[in-house]
Amino acid sequence: EKGGYDYFMLKEIAEQPKAVADTLLGRIDAAGSLTLDEVRIPASVLREVDKVVIVACGTAYHAGLIAKYAIEHWTRIPCETELASEFRYRDPILDPRTLVVAISQSGETMDTLMALRHAREQGAKVLAICNTNGSTIPRESDAVLYTHAGPEVAVASTKAFLTQLVACYLVALYLGQVRGTKWGDEILSVIRDLSEIAGEVEEVLETMEPVRELARSLADKNTVLFLGRHVGYPVALEGALKLKELAYMHAEGFAAGELKHGPIALIERDVPVVVVVPSPRGRSVLHDKIVSNIQEIRARGARTIVIAERGDEAVRPYADHLIEIPATPVLLQPLVATVPLQVFACELATARGNEVDQPRNLAKSVTVE
Ligand code: M6R
Repeated sequence: EKGGYDYFMLKEIAEQPKAVADTLLGRIDAAGSLTLDEVRIPASVLREVDKVVIVACGTAYHAGLIAKYAIEHWTRIPCETELASEFRYRDPILDPRTLVVAISQSGETMDTLMALRHAREQGAKVLAICNTNGSTIPRESDAVLYTHAGPEVAVASTKAFLTQLVACYLVALYLGQVRGTKWGDEILSVIRDLSEIAGEVEEVLETMEPVRELARSLADKNTVLFLGRHVGYPVALEGALKLKELAYMHAEGFAAGELKHGPIALIERDVPVVVVVPSPRGRSVLHDKIVSNIQEIRARGARTIVIAERGDEAVRPYADHLIEIPATPVLLQPLVATVPLQVFACELATARGNEVDQPRNLAKSVTVE
């Protein structure tokens, strides 16, 4: 059942190109328009939405954090992403014009379920993004957009995450389309770019040997830090989460801009710091800022592990280890930038003798609050 792989996690990492392609399949018509048949909330209602709230836990929450950037950019609707476990306890402001998006691989996560029940009680519409047909979360939602990752067995989420991102982008682009924002042309071009992502994920997977080697060389470290900005920030959080749950190491993700507000005090000789670098195209100001962050931490002795777009020569001199990823539109970068971090965590767990598919103390779906 592991299809020749030692672990389900390795199999599921390898299945990502297909999972991404399957999640896009049949959802974009020949004219480049999105057709989301499963979204049963009428376009007239979606046009009236004045706030989007995303609720999720763990890795799905990280997908939601990335979705916020996409939704606000393409739809101009204010969007917040909240941990499902915190959501209802803060008495959130919800009404029939609020669209709540609940993201869950299993569809059974109790925290997410309770959050969506609370949202519906307040009259909000709930759209589920889910990987498990007929599970509780989609059954209790107004609409569902299924991710087509196939069953995910390993406790650490990998292919489900990438497909959650795809689904989030589709929701953002669709909302942008039905509301007709000024980004119409950009939306069409991103839809085209999305169809190339599966091939790009494949490309990343083919170049992972140096990442595995690097992971093995860090097996005796205690701490790994992760930095990112913009959509790279949730990617950093996701890289840190994978490492915690699989390698049982102290791993933390930071927004690179926060470094000087505290975390830089953690930098000492030889601490591995993984930095997710935004594309030098597009938001290039951010790119320059992160390059200077890399210089700062390196000057303090950090071992810099840099994930950057292929051809990004500006970072090369400051990278102790450079992991190159294909160029993508700025907002889509997490689809390729996350993959090396999954491979990194999986290999480190193996090198430390941990049980990859069944990390200690964790369950695949958390059905208690
Ligand atoms: O099934 P869900 O997507 O609702 O699960 C949410 C989290 O429990 C899950 O993503 C968890 O964080 C993973 N083990 C992370 O790899």
